[in-house]
Amino acid sequence: MKAVVWHGKRDVRVDSVPDPAIQEPNDIVVKITSSGICGSDLHLYEVLGPFMTEGDILGHEPMGIVEEVGSEISHLEPGDRVVIPFNISCGYCAMCRQGLMTQCETTQVRDQDKGAALFGYTKLYGQVPGGQAEYLRVPQAQFGPIVVPDGPADDRFVYLSDVLPTAWQAVEYAAIPDGGSVAVLGLGPIGDMCTRIARHRGAGTVIGVDLVPERLARAQANGITTVDLGGVDDVADALRDLTGGRGPDAVIDAVGMEAHGAGGQRMARKAVGLLPDAAGEKLMESAGVDQTAALRTAIDAVRRGGTVSLSGVYGGMADPMPMMTLFDKQIQLRMGQANVKRWIGDILPLLTDGDPLGVDTFATHRVPLAEAPQAYRDFQDKNNGTVKVLLQP
Ligand SMILES: NC(=O)c1ccc[n+]([C@@H]2O[C@H](COP(=O)([O-])OP(=O)(O)OC[C@H]3O[C@@H](n4cnc5c(N)ncnc54)[C@H](O)[C@@H]3O)[C@@H](O)[C@H]2O)c1
Ligand SMILES: [Zn+2]
Ligand SMILES: [Zn+2]
Repeated sequence: MKAVVWHGKRDVRVDSVPDPAIQEPNDIVVKITSSGICGSDLHLYEVLGPFMTEGDILGHEPMGIVEEVGSEISHLEPGDRVVIPFNISCGYCAMCRQGLMTQCETTQVRDQDKGAALFGYTKLYGQVPGGQAEYLRVPQAQFGPIVVPDGPADDRFVYLSDVLPTAWQAVEYAAIPDGGSVAVLGLGPIGDMCTRIARHRGAGTVIGVDLVPERLARAQANGITTVDLGGVDDVADALRDLTGGRGPDAVIDAVGMEAHGAGGQRMARKAVGLLPDAAGEKLMESAGVDQTAALRTAIDAVRRGGTVSLSGVYGGMADPMPMMTLFDKQIQLRMGQANVKRWIGDILPLLTDGDPLGVDTFATHRVPLAEAPQAYRDFQDKNNGTVKVLLQP
């Protein structure tokens, strides 16, 4: 089959690789019809390179048609239309039972001291072949796959794999009071969806922050107030100005470790990317390599006693944090990968009863698998109005 394969920093290619097959009795194989490219894939494209191995198949936002089922799978059959959550979880362990599927004790990657295995996401998360491919082997299929109805185009359901539950969890963790205010840092797919969900769930003031004109315009077209990072001296001041001087009740960081902004960390990060794998890994563990501009803005801007919710991914293990401010302002901080299946019951009605979140028109580009290398470049460089790409094998 054809698949999107990581070859090195900023080098992904579409290669011919062996077809996946059932390996365990609780596996299924899915023929992929749509597969998103995520901001998380961009981390692999550059800064998380030291944790990748040439030949890794990328992708963790797939949906498609069940092709084959293992002998223990009785609730699915070939022909079913399914969306595959990006985290691989069992559904029955102590973590899964309390809704922490990202910490699944059956799939935890213990030799790396990490949580649940993820599709297409480095050796830290199990090095499981990903879903930007014609076919995908899905482990733990007794629990993961979400069956969706025939009818609407893939666009309606594909974001159940990641974007929707990630944004839902970010808003849930933000604990915005009824009618309260939230600022969303970053208007990529995740931040954009956070603004839509926050408003849908009753936030009074929703402000989006970014620096890419098309992304700001996209949010404005949805009625979101925006702040242009490049157009203000200090984002936190601008957010206070928009919220009666006090700061938003909650701030969501949908940027993560590659934030634009001032800071000496850029040099350290560049160094990590250039080092040979082992040395790069070591430096990430011993030095702070995240660019924490967005996180710092969140901590500065949020009102006293407010909540900072991180959905942006951070990867350095020794980043300095403004502990005095966090403590003095009595800030609550919540974060993590999305526990996808936990939120599906809340989200599905918003997909089957009309389209209040605008998922049908959310993708900016739908391209064949063969065009993945160009799509990665455009998404990384924010060229060509690229916000969300769906690969259609
Ligand atoms: N928690 C999860 O489960 C989960 C799931 C999916 C994605 N993510 C993470 O969420 C983040 C966003 O993903 P995405 O797909 O929207 O990616 P993206 O890269 O398209 O979006 C990031 C946006 O942040 C903007 N930005 C950069 N620096 C900024 C700053 N200082 N202030 C405000 N905006 C700034 C960029 O211009 C860009 O539009 C990534 O870190 C990704 O890894 C997390
Ligand atoms: Zn993703
Ligand atoms: Zn589990």
